[in-house]
Amino acid sequence: MSDYRPLVFAHRGGADALPEHTLGAYLRAIEEGADGLECDVRLTRDGHLVCVHDRRLNRTSNGRGLVSNKTLAELDALNFGSWHPGYPADEELPHLSRLLTLDRLLEALRGCGRPVRLLIETKHPSRYGAEVERRLVGLLRRHGLTEGRPDAPVSVTVMSFAALALRRVRALAPAIPTVYLLEILPPGVGRGRLPFGARIAGPGVGLVKARPGLVPAIKAAGHQAYVWTVNEPDDLDIVLEHQVDGVITDRPRFVLERLAEM
Ligand code: G3P
Ligand code: CA
Repeated sequence: MSDYRPLVFAHRGGADALPEHTLGAYLRAIEEGADGLECDVRLTRDGHLVCVHDRRLNRTSNGRGLVSNKTLAELDALNFGSWHPGYPADEELPHLSRLLTLDRLLEALRGCGRPVRLLIETKHPSRYGAEVERRLVGLLRRHGLTEGRPDAPVSVTVMSFAALALRRVRALAPAIPTVYLLEILPPGVGRGRLPFGARIAGPGVGLVKARPGLVPAIKAAGHQAYVWTVNEPDDLDIVLEHQVDGVITDRPRFVLERLAEM
């Protein structure tokens, strides 16, 4: 019997069951046993890193317009949970509706009682010059999380589809591990070569299926593979056959149950 078991990351906090990127979603995923969390970050107009996936507010809040045009105070006045089918119509639940900043998330994880892995994806790195990465590394430094210490309460990994973002993070904080996210296959990566010291490749599950040689090449080159977004049983079977190192999923409970049955 193999002792293989991948790390399980709750994508956007486990976006299937609860409103994505809310503290309630993240804490529930930890309670359910997820090894870690995946979180997208964007900059507000006044320079705060907030955990919001889309460029616009329309889908996941009762606000409108671009996240980057709003101040933190303006975003704090919105409800980020009431759009979700699971959100009760007659109650205010701050843990499932309040905007989550990265600072608030790090603070909460520090007090959650067990070590947690946090994958932070920077969105739109070129739009603000190096501002997203500078702010991110500055915040992580204030939380004491840039040294890659194994005993840290939160072990942070930064992810991006943009090699440029990985280069900036490496220059600012070389001990932070990085993931090169892949939707298509850039030159060299099919042979296991990752840019700017990235230790981990992050292919989408569609790419893993289209290129069955990709994960073996990544692993043969000494890197790890974290695959997203693995929600369906067939997809889970495929990534487990490839013995990927991390499974990023909207349905952490489902993935954990499948792994427990193995
Ligand atoms: O974990 C990577 C994955 O989150 C990338 O896609 O659009 O959900 O941020 P997206
Ligand atoms: Ca993401």
